[in-house]
Amino acid sequence: MEEKKFKRTTVTAALPYANGGVHIGHLAGVYVPADIYVRYLRLKKREVVFIGGSDEHGVPITLRAKKEGITPQDVCDRYHKMIKDSFEEFGISFDVYSRTTSETHHKFASDFFRKLYDDGKLTEQVSEQYYDEEAHQFLADRYIMGECPHCGNPNAYGDQCEKCGSDLSPMELKNPHSTISGSQPVMKQTKNWYLPLNEYQEWLKQWILDGHKEWRSNVYGQCKSWLDMDLQPRAMTRDLDWGIPVPVKDAEGKVLYVWFDAPIGYISNTKEMCERDPERFGNWEKWWKDPETRLVHFIGKDNIVFHCLIFPTMLKPTATIFCPTTCRQTSSSTLRTTRFRRARTGRSGCTSTCAISKASRMCCAMCSRPTPRRPRTTTSRGKTFRSATTPSWWQYTETSSTARCN
Ligand code: 2FM
Ligand code: ZN
Repeated sequence: MEEKKFKRTTVTAALPYANGGVHIGHLAGVYVPADIYVRYLRLKKREVVFIGGSDEHGVPITLRAKKEGITPQDVCDRYHKMIKDSFEEFGISFDVYSRTTSETHHKFASDFFRKLYDDGKLTEQVSEQYYDEEAHQFLADRYIMGECPHCGNPNAYGDQCEKCGSDLSPMELKNPHSTISGSQPVMKQTKNWYLPLNEYQEWLKQWILDGHKEWRSNVYGQCKSWLDMDLQPRAMTRDLDWGIPVPVKDAEGKVLYVWFDAPIGYISNTKEMCERDPERFGNWEKWWKDPETRLVHFIGKDNIVFHCLIFPTMLKPTATIFCPTTCRQTSSSTLRTTRFRRARTGRSGCTSTCAISKASRMCCAMCSRPTPRRPRTTTSRGKTFRSATTPSWWQYTETSSTARCN
């Protein structure tokens, strides 16, 4: 099939969490390749924008704030500046580098959720989650620690054991305790809003497995491993006090899931950029709605499922806005970061030197041969769900993907 000639390109680079500095591996794996690509397009006199920004929500930021006795906003302010300065010093030529705590983003993400809600595209589900009766709050997976059922590590987190690398669910931990008060959490019912990924499974299969055989094999393979199983509805809200409040009735104490609002950050940051300089960039719709615009994401391996399955599913119901009839993707390239990291940290001991979230999994996995992760099993309302096993060596990959979906 002949490659479609797009008029312009929107390039995004994964929004780093504002809870640590930018690592050389991030630069080498995502931001430098993205920058090279954008500079190449600019030299070719192509119309292109390069969108970046800090990802300022999510539990790790709240954990760091608690540890340091400051507010999550303080954490974000510190690291957003540090990251932004690093990118500037490194010459990463973003056209915009904003943040997901901006007013523009809050409104955009909130409206986006509300539209899905109003159109009946989200489902409401009640589930049981751990609750800290002393701290009076539901506990995100990272707020729960206990004994790993696989290796016996007494300090495993509710989402992962950093000793053996297993992905966990809090229910699997033996002797769980809250990291906030130290008390033993109890199960309590809570209501959240879900994206019914199951309803989009056939479309995703068709769009990706039939329509995008040209995607990089690891991206395509990871999508396939998910799509070969039954996708489950996925919660797009969380019981947490840091994030964008869920804009519906009876949702006090709940915020949008960080992986719901973060990719929307690409769009809201584009909007902010356009509003700052409309003469140069035009309006944001041109970069996100026009079928003549190609979208290219530069992402990390851990981000594939969010960019290739979840973000498109979020965009799909807005078909008239985000999903034009053509669906193409560009060529892609991969840069493995192994040699950079090994040069810095050696083959072992890298976990203690990393200043990035999920460091141990990334580093340790990277230092060894790729091995499939242990399948994650979760139990909910008497049913057991098993997630995809994916090779977890750390490899940043350029992939182009989502908004141009049929
Ligand atoms: O994995 C991460 O570091 C995420 N903060 C990436 C987000 S990319 C996008 F969705 F914003
Ligand atoms: Zn373990």
